[in-house]
Amino acid sequence: MPVNRARIAVFVSGGGTNLQALIDAEKAGAIPSGEIVLVVSNNKNAFALQRAQAAGIPAQTVTRRECGSQEVFEESLVRLLEEYEIDLIILAGFLSILSAEFTRRFENRIINIHPSLIPSFCGKGYYGLKVHQEALARGVKVTGATVHIVNEIPDGGRILLQKAVDILPEDTAETLQRRVMEQAEWILLPQAAEQVSAEIIKEKERAT
Ligand code: GRF
Repeated sequence: MPVNRARIAVFVSGGGTNLQALIDAEKAGAIPSGEIVLVVSNNKNAFALQRAQAAGIPAQTVTRRECGSQEVFEESLVRLLEEYEIDLIILAGFLSILSAEFTRRFENRIINIHPSLIPSFCGKGYYGLKVHQEALARGVKVTGATVHIVNEIPDGGRILLQKAVDILPEDTAETLQRRVMEQAEWILLPQAAEQVSAEIIKEKERAT
């Protein structure tokens, strides 16, 4: 039986520019195999929630704090994912670490965007400006972004796509962060969303 499109949930915590890139790409027809049907935030004040609303995508907030424990937090996430029949989870600036139990449950079905060329400047504690500060401090001349499968090791899963970005002599962490987003993240994440969605559809069709 033909399966139309993979159902995508995007997990966010902050500004949501990567979510916006996904929304825009879908609108432009660049994710024909997938459809964003849910946005989940772990932060009530995330601007990403407004982006979801503006795009008419259902958005839900689940906070670790209100849930009281990682277990209850993840149970709430799983309930939502089941309710919306999600096939693919995209972490787009989602700042909460997910347990091994969670990542195993959705094996090969969670992807993340990281703002460096993994294995450089990645792993626990490497998020936000810190990634770019460390790249500048080390003096590397090229950085970039990576989309990878999420497993139990932070930033440790199989690499799907990477794109390099030059570091300029006058760069600050802020200018570098912006350029990595513009030249790499916002391009790679929609590409990866389409790639994995297409794989999911093929797999589902084989199974029916
Ligand atoms: C991006 O740099 C992304 O690579 C990282 O967190 C940031 C999120 O930005 N994982 P935004 O919320 O998508 O604007």
